[in-house]
Parts: sequence; structure tokens; C-alpha cells
Amino acid sequence: MILAVTMNPSVDISYPVERFKIDVVNRVETVRKTAGGKGLNVARVIAQMEEEVLSTGVLGGTIGDYIVQELNESNIPNDFLRIKKESRNCIAILHEGMQTEILESGPTLSKEEGVAFLEKFECLLTTASLVTISGSLPKGLPTHFYRNMVEICSHKGKPVVVDTSGETLKQVLKHEKKPFAIKPNTAELSQLLGLDAEAGIIDLKQRLNHEIFKGIEWIVVSMGDKGAFVRHGHDYYQVTIPRIDVVNPVGSGDATVAGLAVALNRNKTVESVLKTAMTTGMLNTMEAITGFININKFKQYFDLVKVEKID
Ligand SMILES: Nc1ncnc2c1ncn2[C@@H]1O[C@H](COP(=O)(O)OP(=O)(O)OP(=O)(O)O)[C@@H](O)[C@H]1O
Ligand SMILES: [Mg+2]
Repeated sequence: MILAVTMNPSVDISYPVERFKIDVVNRVETVRKTAGGKGLNVARVIAQMEEEVLSTGVLGGTIGDYIVQELNESNIPNDFLRIKKESRNCIAILHEGMQTEILESGPTLSKEEGVAFLEKFECLLTTASLVTISGSLPKGLPTHFYRNMVEICSHKGKPVVVDTSGETLKQVLKHEKKPFAIKPNTAELSQLLGLDAEAGIIDLKQRLNHEIFKGIEWIVVSMGDKGAFVRHGHDYYQVTIPRIDVVNPVGSGDATVAGLAVALNRNKTVESVLKTAMTTGMLNTMEAITGFININKFKQYFDLVKVEKID
């Protein structure tokens, strides 16, 4: 079973309006509400790939109830720690071809709740074969919280895939216990190293040779429509993908993490792991719903992904 962690889930609300007007009443006819958060997207795509998954993290209040209800309706097994404060709403107003977002930062956790989650996490790990940790941390938890989780995984001998950014990612990488895999995009990689966003293959190779990545088995740098650049052990790979019609790219990084996790959990070859991760990312961009793939198209696109080893 893959344990997929979301520490700051949300209910994502979309308000389509023909014209968005400021300082007056805007009425919305069709409202869509979905359980959101990067780790929930990961869990959904893992389930669509017919791999056993358990979704965990923290949630609270009636918004938390809504998230659980949504997960249950989609048959995603879940076991979250209930917290005192209400989980967050994230609102997207879709107007005139634009998207104006209002994102709540979410609840602040108490120190005790942080400790309680780590205890729960350790229990859930017993039946897990692999762990994914995605997204930002809620307020109240220290930036080294994921590092603590990686340490627990390490003690239990469970591989963990981490997809986060900024200081939280830095804290994970600085620790002596390393995650099994990370999946930064190019912007996150540049931010981590304090460098410009643009990098050619030679630069990328140099960047992934940085001290900070020592001991991490898989570093998958996702590059949107350009595929990915990867370091696996001491080997480097360029992964290219076909041109596709993109409907909605939001969450493709999460779908990539899901594909990566499933293929690693199934002990696939290097080539197959990378092709799977790219395929699930691509399939997500082809659908309107975030964190959703049409598994019937999997083989067709899998065969079009090219993995090239770089000397
Ligand atoms: N425009 C696109 N065309 C084709 N494939 C795409 C496109 N955007 C994303 N993908 C696929 O999804 C993968 C992950 O995308 P990306 O690098 O944008 O992740 P990300 O920035 O972490 O996304 P997010 O965090 O918003 O989910 C890519 O490596 C690729 O396989
Ligand atoms: Mg991402």
C-alpha cells in the first residue's frame, strides 16, 4: 500500500462567472467543489492506476468532513488526524478566460497536534510499502516537520517520495536521512540552489551533481512540456514526451509523483519508472479535472515517451 500524505488539504471551489465585477454582487449559477491539495491528487491518480493507496494528513471542521465525504465517494481509503481548527477553502473565480484565486492559508496546528500526527503516521507506516509527501506544511508546524517524517520512514525502512518546495524542501535535503526520491520542477530546483530558472542539459547535470542531492536515489526534475531531467544514482537521463493537446495542466506534477510512486512500488526498471511518471503527468494535462487521468490512454502515451541516458 502507498501512503499518500497531505498536511494542508482544502476544498477547492470554482466560481465561473461571465464577467467578474469589483465592489458589486457577483452571482454564481454553477459551483464546483472538490477535495483539493497536492497529496489528494496523488492519492486519486494512484487509485486510478489500480494500486492500493491510503490517504492521510490532517483535517478539521465541516470542510474536513466534506473532504472525507468526497474521498469516500471516490473510494479512496483515508485516515486523517482530526484537528481542532477548520480546514481551508481555496477559491478560483473563472472569468473572461482568466482565473482569479483566493487561497486561504489554512488552519494553525498546535504543537500537540503535530506530535499526534507523527505518532499516527508511524502507525500507518506499518502496512505501507512506500510513502509520498506532497505540498506545503500547515501553519504551526516547524519547517523541519517533513524531515522528521523522512527520519521515521528511514527507521522503518520505507522509501519516501517528497514533493515540496522552498525552506521545507531544503530542510529535508539537509538531513542525514535522505528521501528515496524528490520531484522538483525547474523553478523549485533553481530556487533550491539559488540559481537562474533556465538551464541546459549540461547545467542540469551539474546542478544535480550538487552536494545537497547526495544519497538521494531518484531526483526527477519535471519540466512541463519538455518532459524531465533525471538523476538516478550516478546516472543521468533526459526524458522527452510527445506534443499533446493540453486541457488543464494543474496537478500534473502531482500525477507525475503518483506515477513515479506506483512504478517504484512495483519495482519497475529505470526506463519504465520514468515513462510511467511522464505518462501520468501527461494524461492529467489532457483532462479538465485536476488529479484525474484516463487510464485507458496509458499504453498509447507510455510508448511515445523516450528515455535517453546522458554521458
Ligand atoms: N504542457 C504540457 N504538455 C505535456 N506534458 C506536460 C505539460 N505540462 C506538464 N506535463 C507533464 O506533467 C509532468 C509534470 O509537469 P510540471 O513539470 O509542470 O510539474 P509541476 O510544475 O510540479 O506541476 P504542479 O505542481 O502544478 O502539479 C511533466 O514532466 C510532463 O510529463
Ligand atoms: Mg509541483
